[in-house]
Amino acid sequence: MSEIYDDQTFFKAYGKLPRSLDGLKVAGEWPALKRLIPDLKGKKVLDLGCGYGWHCQYFAENGAEVIGLDASEKMIAQARQKNNHQNITYVVGSMENLDFPSEQFDFPSEQFDLVFSSLTIHYLADFPKLVQDVRRILRPSGQFLFSVEHPIYTSRKEQDFIYDANGQALFFPVDNYFKTGARQTHFLGSPVEKFHRTVEDFIEPLLENGFSLRHLVEPVPTSEVIQQFHWENELRRPMMLIISAEKKIMTPKNHDEN
Ligand SMILES: C[S@@+](CC[C@H](N)C(=O)[O-])C[C@H]1O[C@@H](n2cnc3c(N)ncnc32)[C@H](O)[C@@H]1O
Repeated sequence: MSEIYDDQTFFKAYGKLPRSLDGLKVAGEWPALKRLIPDLKGKKVLDLGCGYGWHCQYFAENGAEVIGLDASEKMIAQARQKNNHQNITYVVGSMENLDFPSEQFDFPSEQFDLVFSSLTIHYLADFPKLVQDVRRILRPSGQFLFSVEHPIYTSRKEQDFIYDANGQALFFPVDNYFKTGARQTHFLGSPVEKFHRTVEDFIEPLLENGFSLRHLVEPVPTSEVIQQFHWENELRRPMMLIISAEKKIMTPKNHDEN
């Protein structure tokens, strides 16, 4: 779990990012992510690591009843201010504890139609456990839709290009790809622990725990966003991975297979 979001210096810097100021319209991956969101009318949605609540607001505006969960009190306070649709309930808590009912939350089995997470799972040490927890709280045929930093992007703790003497990006190296686990990275000038896993590490736990894979997308920002923020280098390496998986309905046959 990442406690850095409650650190005052980091929190202040995070507040100056384009997506903190302007929300989803400047999030490079949003058009690709949005296409994978199922019909939301009358649905129950859980957003894991909801941050400022931009996605929660979108889900609620499109007819869903939403719970936004985040480990950071400061982020939840921002969400309550910025994205306060009446059908959203914000909760402070860790997605590591979905299986521990507490005063803050208790998630009985099979209650959500969509469990969503944007750019948070790379802060989590144990992905297979999360998959099991998400499977339990999803209704049959419910969807688990999440984005993470791409395994190519997380392989080195530097998470950066190699530059020449003039500051021009030469190439983006991949190293220690199969040495999975914690990486002590830097983000917005602060030390931040993230977890690197391979593509296989994302897919296999889903297939082993009764999900079928619906989509795997490597999003790139739209040309307008690339132009606006001078993000041309975003076309040189993948930064994000989006996965959509569906909880299989268990029949005696596929129950044995799982
Ligand atoms: C990069 S921000 C993403 C916020 C939001 N999902 C978005 O896309 O704008 C990551 C968020 O994950 C939260 N977070 C990190 N570890 C968590 C955990 N174990 N449980 C719940 N939230 C967590 C942080 O507090 C932070 O708000």
